[in-house]
Amino acid sequence: TPLSENKLSAQKEGFRFFMEKEIYEQSRVLADTLLGRLRDESIYFEELDNNLFEGINEIKLCACGTSYHAALVASYLFERHSKIRVSVEIASEFRYREPFLTADTLFIVISQSGETADTLESLKMAKRSGLKTMVICNVDNSSMVRLADASILTRAGIEKGVASTKAFATQVCVLWMLSLFLGGARKTLATEEIKRQIHLLRALPSTVNVENVLHEQLRRLSKRYLHGHGFFFIGRDVFYPLALEGALKLKEISYLHAEGYPSGEMKHGPIALADPELFTIALLPQHMLYDKTKSNIEELSARDSTICSISPLDFDKADDHIRTHLHEDYMLEFFEMMVVLQLLSMEIAIRLGNDVDMPRNLAKSVTVE
Ligand code: G6P
Repeated sequence: TPLSENKLSAQKEGFRFFMEKEIYEQSRVLADTLLGRLRDESIYFEELDNNLFEGINEIKLCACGTSYHAALVASYLFERHSKIRVSVEIASEFRYREPFLTADTLFIVISQSGETADTLESLKMAKRSGLKTMVICNVDNSSMVRLADASILTRAGIEKGVASTKAFATQVCVLWMLSLFLGGARKTLATEEIKRQIHLLRALPSTVNVENVLHEQLRRLSKRYLHGHGFFFIGRDVFYPLALEGALKLKEISYLHAEGYPSGEMKHGPIALADPELFTIALLPQHMLYDKTKSNIEELSARDSTICSISPLDFDKADDHIRTHLHEDYMLEFFEMMVVLQLLSMEIAIRLGNDVDMPRNLAKSVTVE
């Protein structure tokens, strides 16, 4: 009815779609996620018992969809900061593959809704096997929060867009904090380094602010990035899961074919697809494997793929270049590039005339198999 349409558009607060509103909200929800959790030299989670990590020698992360990509990011951060063995599981695979589990493993599920059927069942399996469990979740009192031994809430607020944006941002933020928390507890990170990263975390809300010039550039770019036989999103280290997430966002709302790859894997097959109708979105951060990534992109450029590079530094082998800000650390570059990818997908999907908030065939929460 017109009345409920009015109500809906009022809820969008002037944005065209909830997804757009939620992208713009990221600065505020990240500030909420950080609230009370940053001390001068340590991370504090009031939700966590000090003994949760006692006797733990391994962490298993398990999730679906976008939350799975956040888990992949965490695997890099946990191993780097807390020198602990980490494995990552897709919930729908984990629950049927008769995994070998040992009691020294902490099982962490990540879920925006706390209700995804496969993730919930994986959590139950881990509990039955006697593992300590934790959930990183956006919904208090959800099934997973009630079931897990410990939970950390992401505080992203209600997310309406089916394509997850602000929930992902807050998941990665919590997981980053948790990696520092663990690094402190296990004494694998020097206090000075924890302090440095806490300082970076404080900069997150301003890092994800959307600037008009950027949004306008991406809107214009979307005109030319519609036609073609496919998209590659490429990156290294944590920018690889970010590339996967960028490709997923584009698939979900534009219905265009997109794949995320580790930059270094191109030569093992995917580069065979390179031609001008193949669009490569290349993540080229300054502070993570810059030279390696650059030469991977140059190879694609030499084979005539149409390239859109995202980097704070000049890159003259690209057809289009999105210049991000200079940051002092790769994690801040990660968050800024995340926003770029979200907006780019959204602008392409809007130009195609799609319902960005309710893409065809998809549900916000998959509670039945
Ligand atoms: C669905 C949604 C995705 C989400 C995934 C996992 O597929 O469309 O956006 O990432 O479920 O959901 P969860 O609530 O467990 O994070």
